[in-house]
Amino acid sequence: MSPVSIGPHRLYLGDAYASRPTLGWMDADVMDPPYAFDNSGGGAFRKARGASDQIVEEGLDRGFDRSIIDASRSGAVVVFCHNDQLGDLIPELAEDDREQDALLVADMFAHLRPRFHRAVLGVWIKPNPSPMANKNYLADMEPYIHAWNRGYFPQGEHHDKHRWIQCGSIRKSVYDHPTVKPADLMEKIARNVAGITVCDPFMGTGSTGVAAIKAGKVFTGIEHNPKHFATAVRRLTEAWEVSQREAA
Ligand SMILES: C[S@@+](CC[C@H](N)C(=O)[O-])C[C@H]1O[C@@H](n2cnc3c(N)ncnc32)[C@H](O)[C@@H]1O
Repeated sequence: MSPVSIGPHRLYLGDAYASRPTLGWMDADVMDPPYAFDNSGGGAFRKARGASDQIVEEGLDRGFDRSIIDASRSGAVVVFCHNDQLGDLIPELAEDDREQDALLVADMFAHLRPRFHRAVLGVWIKPNPSPMANKNYLADMEPYIHAWNRGYFPQGEHHDKHRWIQCGSIRKSVYDHPTVKPADLMEKIARNVAGITVCDPFMGTGSTGVAAIKAGKVFTGIEHNPKHFATAVRRLTEAWEVSQREAA
């Protein structure tokens, strides 16, 4: 399928598993895939958790196929994951966790299957979590793993090298999407990944792409939902035009 081109950036409306292998090498794959988690419940606060029903309707609680993460075609990957998936994902990604405090959690896993050279656990801290009525902590942090091959180590100024960032989440009504990642978070990640080319195979509304353009990278995105794809095209077109005006 031919992509929508926005300057040097390419957006594909289609399936990530079919499209990503055809796109070849990327310096970084930054992905916020459908999490696998139990999105039922909420009790008295279910109604206030406005995004919950849309997450279920769009199948964004059904997980993803990890074959999309392939160390032979990416310099690095950044993968968001639900707390409940950490046990699965860290052993998939980490080869050397000796010096990384945040990955002590990985020591709990008996088998560590090497894929990338190194991996670090990052955390997005949300000061405005949805209310909860069940017997759990507030959903006020979301982990992500940044794993990289040799030569693709994390980039950025001193302040970019924090493993955490605190910023508010985006209401689902802004882009009619339940899990849009905030600009500050994605801009930090775009500064952290090495190289020029960035792919997001689960692009959603294009938050990774907007941040990638701001960081001076070349973005490729894939999204299978036409409504969210159209939002991404609009957002990336605006971001590209702003970058062009600023460069003039
Ligand atoms: C968690 S959301 C990403 C949201 C995005 N980070 C943002 O800020 O807008 C995951 C997205 O992946 C899309 N998706 C799920 N499975 C897909 C597939 N097989 N191929 C392409 N897109 C897919 C969903 O429609 C959804 O928009």
